[in-house]
Amino acid sequence: MGDLIDLRSDTVTRPTAGMRRAMADAEVGDDVYGEDPLVNALEERVAGMFGHEAALFVPSGTMGNQIGMRLVCEPGQEVLCDADAHVVTYEMGAAAAIFGISTRTVVSQGGRLDADQLIAQVRPKTDWHLTATAAIAVENSHNRGGGLVQPLDQLQKLWDWSRANDVAVHLDGARIWNAHAASGVPLDTYGRLADTASVCFSKGLGTPVGSVLVGSAARIATGRLWRKRLGGGMRQVGVLAAACHYALDHHLPRLGEDHEHAQLLAKRLGVDPSSVETNMVVLDDVAAPVIAEAAKAQGVLVSQVSARRIRLVLHLDVDDAAVDRAADVLAPLLDR
Ligand SMILES: Cc1ncc(COP(=O)(O)O)c(C=O)c1O
Repeated sequence: MGDLIDLRSDTVTRPTAGMRRAMADAEVGDDVYGEDPLVNALEERVAGMFGHEAALFVPSGTMGNQIGMRLVCEPGQEVLCDADAHVVTYEMGAAAAIFGISTRTVVSQGGRLDADQLIAQVRPKTDWHLTATAAIAVENSHNRGGGLVQPLDQLQKLWDWSRANDVAVHLDGARIWNAHAASGVPLDTYGRLADTASVCFSKGLGTPVGSVLVGSAARIATGRLWRKRLGGGMRQVGVLAAACHYALDHHLPRLGEDHEHAQLLAKRLGVDPSSVETNMVVLDDVAAPVIAEAAKAQGVLVSQVSARRIRLVLHLDVDDAAVDRAADVLAPLLDR
């Protein structure tokens, strides 16, 4: 595996030497008893960063999203989101399978949030003929949208409308760090435009595992029950929280490098750099399986999103030299 350049996802990173040391040195306690000092500190830290009262450390972004949505939506009600949202595409129907939550989708322009389009689809809680829309889920940055950053004015518009109309907003912020690094919008600005938000440490920030769900104190207290019910109560997980603290200190400030690498790669591959907003490069209208096989044979792994689309994701384990080599391998295969 040593020489492989893995551009399939930013989840493939391995903990750095510094992160491993922080994990090894972690003071720990039993987190189900609320006694793990680094988990408690992480929850407080992340809640503060996003302008929320409380937070809950969970094993995965999927658990963060699903508990987050359950906290703002009752069984038999619906969550509305775009058709390419991670919460309805890649989370195994969890909202329905586990919580009895219905989901309804609108087809967006490549994942970009259009507040009016979503608002037009909301079904009121006051009409007993209709499945009530309790919440709207938003993803930022947008995975299937190629890492696009949601426009702040649309987030604000949706939020303002939601306050007046008794509809909650859940943010899938698995890569909110990338959105923040690219747009300069403060994390707490994004956080304050959502009732619940799930943020991940195991993507661009490079930890082996871990996500944090933020919300009001009351909601997070209920979320803690759901986490336990789902088997997500963890014990001496200060070793993981230590990795998250390390990532906030050392990896959050460097995310811009991944974005620069994405720009470089895009230019080398003839992709319009303006289509690259964060750490992903999308190759459209290509023979995805053929290219993926040929690239793999030369030590470059890519992700096939569909038969005609490839996704390349830049991350902590891809340095300048790797970007160069990936471009050398991929450019001739693209026939551009
Ligand atoms: C946008 C988005 N949300 C949520 C998740 C789920 O995270 P996890 O794999 O930790 O469950 C992912 C995973 O890649 C993601 O890309």
